[in-house]
Amino acid sequence: MASSFTTHQLSSKWAKHGVSQALPIPSFSLHDLGVLGSKRSIRMKTSQKIVTISAALLEFPSVLTLPSKETYKVEAPQKNYSKHSKWNPLQKAVSVAFDMVESTLISKEKQQEFSKTADPRVQISGNFAPVPEQPPVQNLQVIGTIPDCINGVYVRNGANPLFEPAAGHHLFDGDGMVHAVTIQNNAVSYACRLTETQRLIQERDLGRPIFPKAIGELHGHFGVARLLLFYARGLFGLIDHRHGMGVANAGLVYFNHRLLAMSEDDLPYQVRVNSCSGDLETVGRYAFDEQLKTSMIAHPKVDPETGELFALSYDVIKKPYLKFFKFAKDGKKSNDVEIPLSVPTMIHDFAITENFVVIPDQQVVFKLQEMIRGGSPVIYDKTKMSRFGILSKNAENSNDIIWVDCPDTFCFHLWNAWEEEETDEVVVIGSCMTPADSIFNESDECLKSVLSEIRLNIKTGKSTRRPIIDVSASEHFNLEAGMVNRNRLGRKTRYAYLAIAEPWPKVSGFAKVDLFSGEVQKFIYGENKYGGEPFFVPREDANSEDEDDGYILAFVHDEKTEKSELQIVDAKSTLNLEAKVELPSRVPYGFHGTFISSNDLKRQI
Ligand SMILES: [Fe+2]
Repeated sequence: MASSFTTHQLSSKWAKHGVSQALPIPSFSLHDLGVLGSKRSIRMKTSQKIVTISAALLEFPSVLTLPSKETYKVEAPQKNYSKHSKWNPLQKAVSVAFDMVESTLISKEKQQEFSKTADPRVQISGNFAPVPEQPPVQNLQVIGTIPDCINGVYVRNGANPLFEPAAGHHLFDGDGMVHAVTIQNNAVSYACRLTETQRLIQERDLGRPIFPKAIGELHGHFGVARLLLFYARGLFGLIDHRHGMGVANAGLVYFNHRLLAMSEDDLPYQVRVNSCSGDLETVGRYAFDEQLKTSMIAHPKVDPETGELFALSYDVIKKPYLKFFKFAKDGKKSNDVEIPLSVPTMIHDFAITENFVVIPDQQVVFKLQEMIRGGSPVIYDKTKMSRFGILSKNAENSNDIIWVDCPDTFCFHLWNAWEEEETDEVVVIGSCMTPADSIFNESDECLKSVLSEIRLNIKTGKSTRRPIIDVSASEHFNLEAGMVNRNRLGRKTRYAYLAIAEPWPKVSGFAKVDLFSGEVQKFIYGENKYGGEPFFVPREDANSEDEDDGYILAFVHDEKTEKSELQIVDAKSTLNLEAKVELPSRVPYGFHGTFISSNDLKRQI
């Protein structure tokens, strides 16, 4: 099937993201809409009724994906044209020339067939489609009773492209948006805000997407051409990429009194939660007081006993391809430890134990030269041996790193790890994914994600791997996105709470898995309801020592009624649904979250 599409067709698709009263899009393009200038709104006669679209909608094409049940009262964005007016005549001329080249590139690219992993019609369809920002809405209706110990703010990150993609787009390419549910003494509010990355600020000023999209665009000859064009714009001062290009859409961590939004292609961004209103505000790109000079992965680990933050940074172009570092509880950074890798490798996650960091060096690697040959720079290298590196958390260098081979193992995420002295093993709990690169490259083979126990013997250098849940192939269900009780991270844990990613990539519920016995308890969100990462909040005032004494929080979306809610489930015993919070606007499926207690929030910087 040819995948070329017009802006109108794409807009229609976005408009019909499964909404029962989808907004019929007239036959003018989004560019036409965007040039309406000072008009605050337009009225369109549809077959059923007259629909008013606010100026904000016109300037933010992505919000055309929203239900037409209401006119969204989103404040019109303040476009800043000062950038253009400051351009000198040469810059203006060059900009016009570059725009023409880009238009030609895009039109050529659209004549080719998009892979599913780069097709925006696939990647941001349904409830993966973006939403506009939602200022705080207070006093939300709660069905049931929120447990007293849930006091604070649950924040979750996700990809939410501000602009309709010009061409290829992968879900991971979207601008970061943080969704926040604030619960204070049973009063609940909700807000969501885009994280004001350098990239987003510049693109909003220019009125269109202009930074390259790492996964959806940068492959093949068009990817090379786009990259060259991007850097050429930088040379002429039309854009500024010196302060990062990341989208800050994947992870969230609360560390040293700051909430940080992260993607692995940049420094983190600090986002501040207003503890009174529940609103969110981007403070800015955060370099840990100028200590961090390189990107940081989106899954840093806070040690629950020492309060230290452990992290990695990988580079896709130059050596060292990988660095490990940590921050003391007060934010002081250690020296970088260079980890020797033969090729640049995609490392999305890692693990800590009481004494070690566990670093996966797997078979999904970056080969930029593949772009010259017309392919994707992120590839599965079947000739490479997959292995795990075990390094002291206090290492000054990597001389003592122990590498343990683990053939054909690819874990996108690692849920926990711990040491077992009696067998000289480090035990790693992760979901092993096949095909290894299926998130990035289209494959005929169905994605499979198997919760696994990997044992790494640090004396013999041998490894074993086994599925934790004993099911036949016909009963298999994917488990991705989740966690253990983070108060016990790096220590032996019995339970993991993981998203049931069925039918992939949707999440129909979560599983509480007994990692020792393989026993599974499932909680299904309900008919037509899907969610994402289940977030475990341990009971703060727990007198019991029980690891599972706490609650699961999860954003859930009803694809039939188009309503979103927060579900709060007792993680102990029978997985009772304790409360549902009705949310005022749609919450797209997203990535990772965290919970900040009211006490922690009081000390926020
Ligand atoms: Fe992740």
